[in-house]
Amino acid sequence: MIEVAWKKDLAQRFGAAAESYETQSEVQQKSAKALADHIAARIQNKKILRILEIGCGTGYLTRELLELYPDAQWWVTDISADMLAKCQSSLSDEIINPEYTSGCSSGELPHNLDLSKIHFHTMDGEAVDLDGPFDLICSNMAFQWFHDQEGTLGRLNDLLTSKGTLAFSTLSQGTFELWHKCQNELGIERLAPEFPDAAFYHRCLNGVNVETLQQKFVQCHKDGLDFLGTLREIGAHSSRIGRSRLSVGQLRSLLKKYENYFTGDHIEADYDVVFVLCSRGSTG
Ligand SMILES: C[S@@+](CC[C@H](N)C(=O)[O-])C[C@H]1O[C@@H](n2cnc3c(N)ncnc32)[C@H](O)[C@@H]1O
Repeated sequence: MIEVAWKKDLAQRFGAAAESYETQSEVQQKSAKALADHIAARIQNKKILRILEIGCGTGYLTRELLELYPDAQWWVTDISADMLAKCQSSLSDEIINPEYTSGCSSGELPHNLDLSKIHFHTMDGEAVDLDGPFDLICSNMAFQWFHDQEGTLGRLNDLLTSKGTLAFSTLSQGTFELWHKCQNELGIERLAPEFPDAAFYHRCLNGVNVETLQQKFVQCHKDGLDFLGTLREIGAHSSRIGRSRLSVGQLRSLLKKYENYFTGDHIEADYDVVFVLCSRGSTG
């Protein structure tokens, strides 16, 4: 029950951030581009007819992949109806009026894209209510919000065609390392959930062809409050389930400790992103 309430809250937070998301999400944008490049390199000659995207947000990965697979049937999904609506409206604007560009894709969307092939659907990626099979199931920076990654990965894998690919990026162990170290030093219970390392994905996707690649991204901020503000602007300020809020005093001490680690005119937040590419049949 607590999980249902937590997810509702999460969807609301992301929904409230739908308008500001693209102003603060440089790491997510870079990660979407990197993931699309990994997918293109991995899939090469396979026919991609049906694609399921989970946690589309405002559509960074959607745009990158629409350029690669413009003829596929798409199911673009997110747990937040508001994020999904934002994704749908900006994609429609770009397709209908190519002059309009949100500036968030590295290239241009194909002008002859058939919008009726893109189905937008509000859905919890941990409880897929669509029929497979899919040639590609993909997601950029959403799986870190899942409660049961192992079980979910197994179910998603079962929704792939015999040569299908599951490809996603998610936060890994080293994300916000210093931020968590400061919490630890102050005796503050960890705010975020633990993020699995790459080996976790090899273990739980045992039996399928799994490749993991790791990349660090750093985002600079004016100060600690600016860092927290960014998490809020992109809707990523939910704590792990059951975690109570920090008191004002705790928050002040935490921000001060964190800022003291930096000597220049900005502070840094480090994102340790793992790209997981998993194919059922032979690759290529
Ligand atoms: C950090 S954003 C990433 C969005 C987008 N993929 C991008 O690259 O910018 C995470 C997204 O995942 C969605 N999300 C979180 N938990 C989810 C779940 N259980 N099922 C589906 N979407 C989820 C959020 O609503 C949000 O839009």
